Amino acid sequence: MKNLTCLILVVLLGVGCKSESSKSESNLIQLANDNFESISKSSLDKNNPKVVLGKALFFEKRLSIDNSISCNSCHDIKKFGVDNLDFSNGARGALTKRNSPTILNTHLQSSQFWDGRAQTLQEQIRMPMLTDVEMSMPSEEFIVKKVSKIEFYAKSFGEVYPNQDVSMENISEAIANYIESLTTPSKFDDFLAGNAVLSSSETRGMKVFIDKGCAECHSGKLLGDGFEEFGVFDSYWKYTKSQKIDSGRYSVTKNEDDLFVFKVPSLRNVTETYPYFHDGSIKTLKEAVKIMAQVQLDEQISERETDDIISFLNSLKQSQSTGSASSTQ
Ligand code: HEC
Ligand code: HEC
Repeated sequence: MKNLTCLILVVLLGVGCKSESSKSESNLIQLANDNFESISKSSLDKNNPKVVLGKALFFEKRLSIDNSISCNSCHDIKKFGVDNLDFSNGARGALTKRNSPTILNTHLQSSQFWDGRAQTLQEQIRMPMLTDVEMSMPSEEFIVKKVSKIEFYAKSFGEVYPNQDVSMENISEAIANYIESLTTPSKFDDFLAGNAVLSSSETRGMKVFIDKGCAECHSGKLLGDGFEEFGVFDSYWKYTKSQKIDSGRYSVTKNEDDLFVFKVPSLRNVTETYPYFHDGSIKTLKEAVKIMAQVQLDEQISERETDDIISFLNSLKQSQSTGSASSTQ
């Protein structure tokens, strides 16, 4: 009836009516905003002195014991903050025990690492330099001494942190500032603000994602955060064929309830950050999505639903126009 009235008015008076399609578009935006939150471009400019210093440190191989790797070796900015390997190569030929997560948008998480063992980004950043299978430096004093002796840093720290000695605090603050400058808004953020339209496949994908229950765990700004068991309905390793079984957050808390509990990873840029899961055991996003449906929700999803979810996830990839990770290179 409403449509008919509208049509008559359009024909008789030549006036426009708010169409059904724009109404369903605004319902869709509402549905999205009920589940997800947008992020915006970082307020930290790439020319900010702390960001510039942090970037130099992020790419600095001398932060590793044998001058062989930098943060960027495992968290490659050109590859959306990952190295696309299941496990990463550390200093002196070591191999990491878990898959390297992206460093993009990590400052927006409430904790760091797959098991959440660091609370803040700055606390986290001090760890890889000292970790045996990563940069393998013997102590914080050693790092500070090594950095202070490099002329470029002695000068830069003097300018950026006047009247302070080089310290783990200012090293990690500068790196954290660089990471914070790399926030990656996407087409989906424009959609949440009502400034972009999703394609029909992206729209179907978002609806399936919400209807099936993915958004119960993957919600908010990052479509992830907080901790959940991996393997709610069945042991995850039966599906991932993981070689080693990782007890997850249990290793930090020693609480039985935390067995196989992992941080719910952000799904921003997830189309680019293969392989998937804490051990990189799954190579394709399609397979990862199907395993999630089975193991976390006890749902079988069709090929089309899977493809639609992937289209939706693709809308979370950083848009070129927003500036960013790759353009700060
Ligand atoms: C040899 C590879 C390697 C190097 C070098 C490395 N990392 Fe990592 N990084 C990892 C791995 C593996 C993890 C996950 C470990 C875990 O969860 O137990 C990780 C986790 C992180 C996280 C947490 C992300 C999240 O979502 O929880 C941040 C942030 C991070 N690294 C920053 C850095 C910085 C900054 C440097 C340089 C100072 C660095 N990393 C050097 C491999 C590396
Ligand atoms: C009960 C909570 C929960 C539900 C529901 C859930 N997930 Fe997950 N998801 C997780 C956790 C926890 C992980 C990390 C698992 C690991 O690697 O240890 C994860 C990992 C992922 C990954 C891999 C990300 C990466 O970087 O490795 C993708 C993709 C994903 N989920 C998509 C989905 C989709 C799509 C659905 C719905 C079909 C879904 N999830 C439902 C908790 C959940």
